[in-house]
Formats: sequence, C-alpha cells, structure tokens
Amino acid sequence: MLGNFSYSNPTKLYFGEDSLNFLNEELPKYGKNVLLVYGGGSIKSTGLYDNIVKILKENGKDVFEDAGVMPNPTVEKLYEGSKRAKDNNVDLILAVGGGSVCDYAKAVSVSAYCEEDPWDKYYLRMEDVDNKIIPVGCVLTMVGTGSEMNGGSVITNHATKLKIGHVFGENVFPKFSILNPVLTYTVPQYQMVAGFFDIMSHILEQYFSNEDDNTSDYIMEGLLKSLIHSSRIAVKNPTDYEARSNIMWTATWALNTLVAKGKSTDWMVHMIGQSIGAYTDATHGMTLSAISMAYYRFIMPYGFQKFKRYAINVWNVNPQGKTDEEVALEGLDLMEAYMREIGLVMNINDLGATEEMVDGIAKGSFILEGGYKVLTQDEIVHILKNSMINNK
Ligand code: NZQ
Ligand code: ZN
Repeated sequence: MLGNFSYSNPTKLYFGEDSLNFLNEELPKYGKNVLLVYGGGSIKSTGLYDNIVKILKENGKDVFEDAGVMPNPTVEKLYEGSKRAKDNNVDLILAVGGGSVCDYAKAVSVSAYCEEDPWDKYYLRMEDVDNKIIPVGCVLTMVGTGSEMNGGSVITNHATKLKIGHVFGENVFPKFSILNPVLTYTVPQYQMVAGFFDIMSHILEQYFSNEDDNTSDYIMEGLLKSLIHSSRIAVKNPTDYEARSNIMWTATWALNTLVAKGKSTDWMVHMIGQSIGAYTDATHGMTLSAISMAYYRFIMPYGFQKFKRYAINVWNVNPQGKTDEEVALEGLDLMEAYMREIGLVMNINDLGATEEMVDGIAKGSFILEGGYKVLTQDEIVHILKNSMINNK
C-alpha cells in the first residue's frame, strides 16, 4: 500500500427489484420543490416516468422538470438547468437516467448558486465549490459510469472542443441512489456493451499503475472476473437478472473511490477517450474501447510485470514454458478477443474520427502522470494512429 488515506462514501444505496419503493423513505428528508432531471425520453417509453411522478406527488412534492439531457451533456444545457433550479428554489434534484443525467444533475447542483461561469470555475480552473449545493438523488437506468456513487461530473463544450470531468468531493456525491437492475433491461445493446467496457476501463485505469503489493489490485482482479463472466451472459440474454445485477454492482464498486485508495492510478485511456468524445460526440464507453488496445500495447513494455499478472490472474493464461513477454501479450490478445466478442468498437475511425482530427484530439488529451509511461503528445498521436491502422 502506498501513502496515507481516509475513506468514507456518503451515498446511500438501495439495490434490487424493489428498490424504487425506498424513494418514499428518502423524499420526506427534503423540501417541497423537486427538479426531476431526465434524458431524451427513454423513461417515458418504459413507464418509469409515470411511476416516479406518482411517488413524488404522493409525497406532496411540487415537481419541476428538466428534460432532454443529452448523452455527453453540454455546457449550454448546464446553464439552462442551473437557472431553472435557482428560479424554482429547488430543494432536491432527482436524476433519473444514466451517467449523463447523474453527472449533469451534480453539475447543476453546484452551479445553480455559483456567481461565476461554472464552466470556467469548475471545469477549466478546477476550483472547489464555495457556494450552496443542492442535494442530488439518482434513480439509475444505465450502468457503467459509477456516477451513482461518486463525485464525477463530465461536461462537454463543443465550441472549444473540450470534454472535461471534475471529480467533486463528498459534499457533491448523490445523497442516495436507487439501483434496480430491471430498469437497465431496455438499454439498447450498443449502449449496454459500451457501459460494460466503461466499467472494465475504470478498473484497468486504477489497476495498471505501480507495482506495490496492494489490496486494491486483488479486489480489482475479482471485479474484472465477475464482469467478464456476467457480460458474456448478458450480451446473449440481456434480461438475465443475475448477470445484469452483478454487472450493476460491479460498476458501482469500480468507481466509487474504494479501489483507488492506497495506490496511484493511470486514467490516460479516459483522457484520450474524452478528447475523442469532444471531437465526435461518440458514446463514452466506445471511445475507450476504440483506443484501449492501442494504448495498452504501447505501454505494456513499461509495466511488464503487472501485464503478466493481469494475463495470469484475470485471463487465466498458463505461464508454463512461455517468456514473460509471451504471457503478457497473450493476456492482451485474450482481452482483445473478448472485446470483439461482446461487440465493442475497436477503431476510432468507426466513431467518426478522421486523420485531420488526430492532432487536435492529442492536444485536447490532458496528460496525467500516474501510469507506467508519461506520454508525450507525439506518443498520443502515435497511439491514435495505431488505433486507426491496427484495430480494423
Ligand atoms: O436519454 P435517454 O432517452 O434516457 O436515453 C439514454 C441515452 O441515449 C439511453 N438509456 C439510458 N437508460 C436507458 C436508456 N435507454 C433505454 N432504457 C434505459 N433504461 O442510453 C443512452 C446513453 O445514456 P448516458 O447516460 O449518456 O450513458 P452513460 O451512463 O454511459 O453516461 C455517459 C456520460 O458519463 C460520463 C461520460 O463522459 C458521459 O458524458 N462519465 C461519468 C463518470 C463519472 N461520473 O464518474 C465517469 C465516466 O468515465 C464517464 O466519463
Ligand atoms: Zn468511464
């Protein structure tokens, strides 16, 4: 273990098929005015909207709506929602949707009473919140980001081609989140598998860093095995409750701050993926899958022992009679085969990225220093081009 740390997570979770009933326990804790935040309409077609409005009314709430939160929520939408929350003196923001809706709700919660431009303050200057924060609760309908139990909030600014995440502190974490795996059954297959890879990527970003003996790494190997097992079942049968519920629980633990404790982390796949997203508006998980193999093959020589351990402990590679390099490479080959098997995008061209965008995407990728190799901008260009060439 490295360093000293403290650990607590303030989000209360309600998990399982009956978990929506627990809204009745949470709602009385907040004032009358509720801002119901949701996306492009999936919650209306599934009937969830009607159920939630009914529960809100039964609890005597005045409901204000903020609909149309797009995947990869934009800064313009944030300005609009912040004004609505303040004008209506909102006591609770109830986010019903996927990571985009939850992230957006957190952004509104810190921006409504912010006296400066929240994009400048929180996303460009990365400052802490020093104004009133509106509490947020989530009803999750799509699995992957971990937004239901963390302080992450990613906003896209198309004008400046920047997609930036601010990881806020515990005061911005959702107060509660309702996790009902059945609500995720209707997620389209493309979004579903993108979410699965988002989970995998969150784990790998925290796993591939440093070589100290660390409890977190053992936890992550277990999470990865559960995810690989259940995702193979879920792609064939999306309504398999056991698989979908295990994946939902894995997603939460992959990014609720626990496994990052006591260790350094990488996050370069996300930094490059977010920049791809800023240029293409592609689905988050697919930006990660498209770049991952090119990235991991590039950094493997710098973190050799960990890649060998990954191959053996996660992908069950038998090391007998093989060199360390052969073992490590076999692990990456198995990862790639799995990614193709579940239907992930493996090439940034397929997301709409072009040769002309490559320099801009590299420039927009924030370079972090926790991984096995601190990348230069030229190396990011090289990785992006490799994703185009190799991953057909
Ligand atoms: O908008 P609706 O109509 O609801 O449709 C959504 C959306 O089109 C649909 N969907 C969600 N639940 C559904 C459903 N369709 C049918 N049935 C359901 N039950 O799925 C589409 C994608 O939803 P979205 O919320 O965009 O997906 P996701 O959960 O992957 O969130 C992506 C956003 O989260 C950020 C990403 O950058 C991206 O902006 N991230 C947040 C993180 C965090 N808070 O820590 C970390 C992540 O790495 C990530 O960066
Ligand atoms: Zn992610």
